[in-house]
Amino acid sequence: MMNRFFFQCIPFVMVSFFLSIVQPVSASPRSEVLLRQGWRFHRGDAANAEQPSFDDSGWQHVTVPHDWAITGPFGSEHDLQNVAVTQNGEKEASLKTGRTGGLPYIGVGWYRTTFDVSPLAATNATVPESSASSPVLPRATLVFDGAMSEARVFVNGSEAIFWPYGYNSFFVDVTDLLNKDGRNNCLAVRLQNRDQSSRWYCGAGLYRNVRLILSAPVHVNVWGTQVTTQLVPPSPASLSEAAASGQAASITLRTTLDNAEGKTLRLHTVILGPDGRSVCEKENTQTVAHGQPFTQNLLVNSPRLWSPETPYLYKAVTRVYEASSLLDTYTTVFGIRTVQLIPDHGFFLNGQMRKFQGVCNHHDLGPLGAAINRAALRRQLTLLKDMGCDAIRTSHNMPAPELVELCDSMGFMMMIEPFDEWDRAKCQNGYHRFFEEWAEKDMVNMLRHYRNHASVVMWSIGNEVPTQCSPDGYKVARFLQDICHREDPTRPVTCGMDQVDCVLDNGFAAQLDIPGFNYRAHRYEEAYSRLPQNVVLGSETSSTVSSRGIYKLPARLSDKPKYPDHQCSSYDLEYCWWSNTPDVDFANADDHPWEIGQFVWTGFDYLGEPTPYDTNAWPSHSSLFGIIDLASIPKDRYYLYRSLWNRRQHTLHVLPHWTWPGHEGKVVPVFVYTDAPEAELFVNGKSQGVQRKLSRAEALAAKAAGDSLWLQRRYRLMWTDVKYEPGEIRVIAHYPSSYLSTSSSLGQGDGTTVTVRTAGKPHHLELIPDRTSLAADGDDLCYVTVRVVDKDGNLVPDAAHLIQFQTTGAGTFRAAANGDATNLDLFHLPRHHAFAGQLTAIIQAADHPGTITFQATAKGLKKATINLQTR
Ligand code: GAL
Repeated sequence: MMNRFFFQCIPFVMVSFFLSIVQPVSASPRSEVLLRQGWRFHRGDAANAEQPSFDDSGWQHVTVPHDWAITGPFGSEHDLQNVAVTQNGEKEASLKTGRTGGLPYIGVGWYRTTFDVSPLAATNATVPESSASSPVLPRATLVFDGAMSEARVFVNGSEAIFWPYGYNSFFVDVTDLLNKDGRNNCLAVRLQNRDQSSRWYCGAGLYRNVRLILSAPVHVNVWGTQVTTQLVPPSPASLSEAAASGQAASITLRTTLDNAEGKTLRLHTVILGPDGRSVCEKENTQTVAHGQPFTQNLLVNSPRLWSPETPYLYKAVTRVYEASSLLDTYTTVFGIRTVQLIPDHGFFLNGQMRKFQGVCNHHDLGPLGAAINRAALRRQLTLLKDMGCDAIRTSHNMPAPELVELCDSMGFMMMIEPFDEWDRAKCQNGYHRFFEEWAEKDMVNMLRHYRNHASVVMWSIGNEVPTQCSPDGYKVARFLQDICHREDPTRPVTCGMDQVDCVLDNGFAAQLDIPGFNYRAHRYEEAYSRLPQNVVLGSETSSTVSSRGIYKLPARLSDKPKYPDHQCSSYDLEYCWWSNTPDVDFANADDHPWEIGQFVWTGFDYLGEPTPYDTNAWPSHSSLFGIIDLASIPKDRYYLYRSLWNRRQHTLHVLPHWTWPGHEGKVVPVFVYTDAPEAELFVNGKSQGVQRKLSRAEALAAKAAGDSLWLQRRYRLMWTDVKYEPGEIRVIAHYPSSYLSTSSSLGQGDGTTVTVRTAGKPHHLELIPDRTSLAADGDDLCYVTVRVVDKDGNLVPDAAHLIQFQTTGAGTFRAAANGDATNLDLFHLPRHHAFAGQLTAIIQAADHPGTITFQATAKGLKKATINLQTR
């Protein structure tokens, strides 16, 4: 029989500590490892699982990040909620199915692993004098980027920390709990998700990274630096160098250290520019005392300013010395930019007015669940970037650090928002249970974690909190806003408000730096005129609902769309009673200088909240709000936003598909989303006339004439009485010659013409990978769009074949999704139905270089194969 101990205490992490043994002065004594491999996982309340002697040999092997519920199975019985969703205007309770995704995320889960820590080398600099003769362990700090939820962390059987909020990052110094020799430390984490604790799928388990940081006794604290920047005139000494931009940036770096013995320290900071070269440096010596940060001021001449279009990043590399001994090296990534709100004029980044072209996103990654993956986030941001999106709201919780880093480097402004509830409940077991004790701690962690990031341009203190309308609600808002100002005096604060009457009357809205309104676009003018800020933000907009590739006839505006198949129409005219189509928000931005932009609900479909199919409407497990579906495939709406927001490339997109057997001679409207002012439509060569986008005045005239689509006519080209006949539709866009200097991309055509043909019988599968070269890191992903096409390559728009996948070589199949909220295929199995002719398969790279061969097969269709390389 195998030794029990062998199972329990396999040391998977040998942290080689103190490189200074071999490289005495130049190397950093700090090390950080991700605890990813070697975890064991178990569902249920395991007695004594925190004890090192506990036998976990029967538990499942998992890697972290891990979401225990995403493998399903789906079921209407999971987290059934008999509630009235008051923020949706419901007065009576009704049975909500799929509200949290119909996935088994409720209950207790345990994770266990072991780690080793090598003793410190006995040098004067690193080991306290009193113990210099005996081996001493480094300071060991565990950082959890997020743990869902009510985390209890045990090290060698002792509870190290409890942190209830599943979205927040937290850390704990566990040095005193380590085994004396540093070996076989047992790390156990108990997590618990309660029913009725969420309005959406929150994921389950150690769904974000767990980090182990080892450092000398004197070290920079976790999130221990604060960088602020200010544009100033160049210093006379370096006038010629600064002349190019005529400005310099004054950088203040405050470093908080753990220096219990009050040693005299020397900090040497070098600032590296976007090209990695040193741009300035500074050395200061100070006896740090009383918990005050160590302050250094530096000057960067001719700074390259961060913006979504120019995401230049700088690094401050700080070395901490005692005499000549290096104790720590800490790197802070930051950007140099200015953020201003000017009453009546709007939001200015680096002195330039811009309106947020933002989206709200939930944290889940569709078929990957909540388990964080950098490549999946990068894929999301790549699509959003192409759409012209420049801002992300992390609704309604703290993001993963990987998302913030990617927003820094890819160029997205961020509104980080911690809460969906304060002290008053939206969900019976929601955050309100913890608010009083934990709100400040949660805010402080969030603010210190992310306040150096260039991408973060504002904080939001909450989303549609019921506290808006309570008599003392404004005090709670003030309390939270003050914490933001205290920890980060550089960024404005907003709050997503939906109770317009309350917040205008009770002072709640007037005290915020930025009044943010969710929906209620028709009340922006009133808010603008009554509030002192003289700007208004669309903190959450639109909530248009649609299913990719599904078109309902007749095409008409509706705020109560419901169909027997539980889908909504991709004519983009359907929304919820509290919301609107995108055109309303476009008009608000165009017509009001004081409106500072919007954050659309949502960029991507997410798990849970399947409005309007959330009430006793199983199966339906995911949202229909997304501009992009759960499978990361853009819906038509993507091109509507792109036609306005992407000002560097043309957009020409036509809908619907043109395969309507049985509809011959009946009306099938044709819509075109384009940046061109006008276009002509042809059906089988016959012109259906030219349509032109209307000016505001023309649209108002159309309204007066009773045209229900008067507003849409400002932003879309619509032929509403086209009669269907099989064959083809062709659109020729009329661009003024000045428009054509830029190149087109991503539309269906060459930029000026697009043709959609009636599809024949399903014939073969087509595979379109988003990339063919992957990092051989065990984590990188390739998203393959799988399409069912006819013999000529036309998409078959109603194909719903079951498609099987085979992945061999240097990678594995990770997940699949088709964007259909009613589909109960399990994401992690290598077979999935197509929806409206398409789906997405996700392939994960192995950790070694090689070739991945991916094959898709389906009954009656010619199969398809592609090769990908891992490097
Ligand atoms: C808002 C809310 C979001 C989401 C959305 C759906 O009121 O802030 O979280 O529920 O409605 O339209």
